[in-house]
Parts: sequence; C-alpha cells; structure tokens
Amino acid sequence: MASITRPVVAIAGVTGHLGKHVTTSFLSSTFEDKFSEIILLSRNETCLFQPSSSETGVKLSTRGYNENNLKEALQGIQILVNTIGPAGHDFGTKLADALPGTHIRVYFPSEFSVDHYAHDFAHPEWQQKKKHFANVQRVVPHMKVCRVFSGLVLEDTGPGFGLDTQNGKYTTVGSFRTPVSFTAVGDVGRTVATLATLPAEKIPDVVHVGGDSRSVAEIAGIMKSAGAGRIDIDCLPYEKYKKENNVGPSSRPDPYVWFLMGDEGIAHTAAFLGDDNELVNPGQRLWRWKTVEDLAEETCGKSAKDVVRPGRK
Ligand SMILES: NC(=O)c1ccc[n+]([C@@H]2O[C@H](COP(=O)([O-])OP(=O)(O)OC[C@H]3O[C@@H](n4cnc5c(N)ncnc54)[C@H](OP(=O)(O)O)[C@@H]3O)[C@@H](O)[C@H]2O)c1
Repeated sequence: MASITRPVVAIAGVTGHLGKHVTTSFLSSTFEDKFSEIILLSRNETCLFQPSSSETGVKLSTRGYNENNLKEALQGIQILVNTIGPAGHDFGTKLADALPGTHIRVYFPSEFSVDHYAHDFAHPEWQQKKKHFANVQRVVPHMKVCRVFSGLVLEDTGPGFGLDTQNGKYTTVGSFRTPVSFTAVGDVGRTVATLATLPAEKIPDVVHVGGDSRSVAEIAGIMKSAGAGRIDIDCLPYEKYKKENNVGPSSRPDPYVWFLMGDEGIAHTAAFLGDDNELVNPGQRLWRWKTVEDLAEETCGKSAKDVVRPGRK
C-alpha cells in the first residue's frame, strides 16, 4: 500500500523531448516507490498512456489541463516538475500565476540547460526563463524552487556546438581546453527524480550537474580513439567573436553556446560554476552517468547529426 507520507508528484510537458525522459525516470523502479502518486499533465490527455497502479503501490494517473483550468488541475500535488518546451512560455506564465492556489511545496521550473544567470547574453529563450523564475518568486515567495542546470545535451554533441565530427572539423571560441559539461537526457531525468525524493529543506535552490565535463580538445581525442579519423580544431579569437555575436537579441542559440563553451560558461565543475553530481548521485550508486566516451563508443566516433533546435539550448 502507498504510504500517505509519500508525496504526490506531477510532471508537465510529459509528451515532449525531455519530458518523456523525465517521466521514464520517475516511473523507473529506482524512484516510483518514493511517491504515492505520479500525475502526468498534458494539454492533450488522450496522447498519454492509460493510468494504472504499479506493484510498488504508486498510483499513476493523467490529467488534461489548459490555461483556463490550471488551478483545478494542480490540486492535490506537492511536487511539480515543469518540462514545458520553448513554445509554452505564455502557458508557463499562467502556470506560475496558478501556483498560489495550490499545495505545491516544491517546484522545478523548465530549465535543464546552461546556467544563463552566469552571463548576460540577450538570448530570448533565456530571458523568458529568467522572467518565469522572477514571476514564481513574486507569487509564491516561500515555495522551494529548484533550478536544475545540466549543461549541454550529450546526445546533441555535434555541429550545433561547433563539433562537426563527421567532417573532421571542430571550431572553438577562445580556449579549446576549457571543460564543457554535457548530460544525457536520461540522466537529466534521473537527476530531477532524485532531487524530488529529498525533503524540501534539503533541495538546493540551484543545482549544476554534468554527466561528463570535457574540453573540446579532449572530445576530439575521444572521438578519434573511437574511429572518427582526423579532426582539426579551428580556434576563433575570443574578443572579436564576442563583439560580433553579442550585438543584440538572437533566437539562434549556437553563437551563444559556442562562446560559452570557450568562456567557462558551461563548466559545471568545482573550479567554475559548481558540481552537484555527488549530491544527486553519490558515488554513482544510483546510476552511472553517461559519458562522452560512451557516446563515442555508441557512434564509433561519428557523433552526431546537427540536431540544434531553435531556442532550445
Ligand atoms: N530538447 C532539447 O534537446 C533540450 C535541450 C536543452 C534543454 N532543453 C530544455 O528542456 C525543456 C523542455 O524542452 P523540450 O525540447 O523537451 O520541449 P518540447 O519537446 O518542445 O515541448 C515539451 C512539451 O511542452 C508542451 N508545450 C509545447 N508548447 C506548449 C504551449 N504553447 N503551451 C503549453 N504547453 C506546451 C507540450 O506538452 P503537451 O502537448 O503534452 O501539453 C510539449 O510536449 C526546456 O526548458 C528546454 O530549454 C531541451
């Protein structure tokens, strides 16, 4: 039987790219018995799989929601994970406005990318995320809000990050020896699920994780060892690139991502932005982080196609 002390968690955006992985993690045997109910929220409830109860006693249910019924849709929930995508910022604003009328104690806003508080680039997606957080703080100042920054998506390692392995050409801005943090989408899901199992007072406000933190020079070496063949690294001058690419708002994330990779802006390590890997997965006892080596092995050194999606870094 489910214990009444276990919290009810809901995930919004479950049909999305990241949301599917987050949902899979919550439903895995490692985590599902930590919650009394897992609620999947979607604007289109019919896309979701049918509710059931698992052997561990966790109740799995679905709820349709829209911008007009958010307060009702969020009733009975103690932990809310938001994985709504970049097209849903207006919806996110309404979601934030509905929070005061709920019993949600812990909220994970839809971050799961680079720490855009560590720099001042005018990327619209990052500005929307900042606005959302400020709005949440305003309407529910006492709610635990945990922003999870997981760096770049490991599986997206490719030309969008300046790493064109298939054509043997890597491009960096500034140093190619600066560590850059990558996290596999499944590991992002496991990170959030772990944090959701902690007592609210033990959940940090900000979490930086990185399944692997490697410099571009290291990545080139790893891909070569796995069969990539020759890779040349072209290093663009830092100041010139910054001047040319920081002249105004741009919806294209790549220039900012390239810049940050060479600028220590995506280094989730103790020496730079901080590293909370041990907090969420001490000694890798809950799972083994997927690494650049794993990716290289899977792809025989030929990662990855260009998977950059506008506004999603
Ligand atoms: N995709 C990536 O590779 C990636 C990389 C780095 C960071 N991230 C971050 O992860 C988060 C999720 O991104 P994603 O790419 O997974 O998102 P996504 O697939 O584009 O969308 C996720 C879900 O958001 C909901 N949604 C979309 N438009 C909406 C709207 N107008 N109003 C309300 N809900 C809407 C949809 O769920 P329903 O239709 O079921 O309601 C959709 O399935 C974002 O914060 C993003 O920055 C993603």
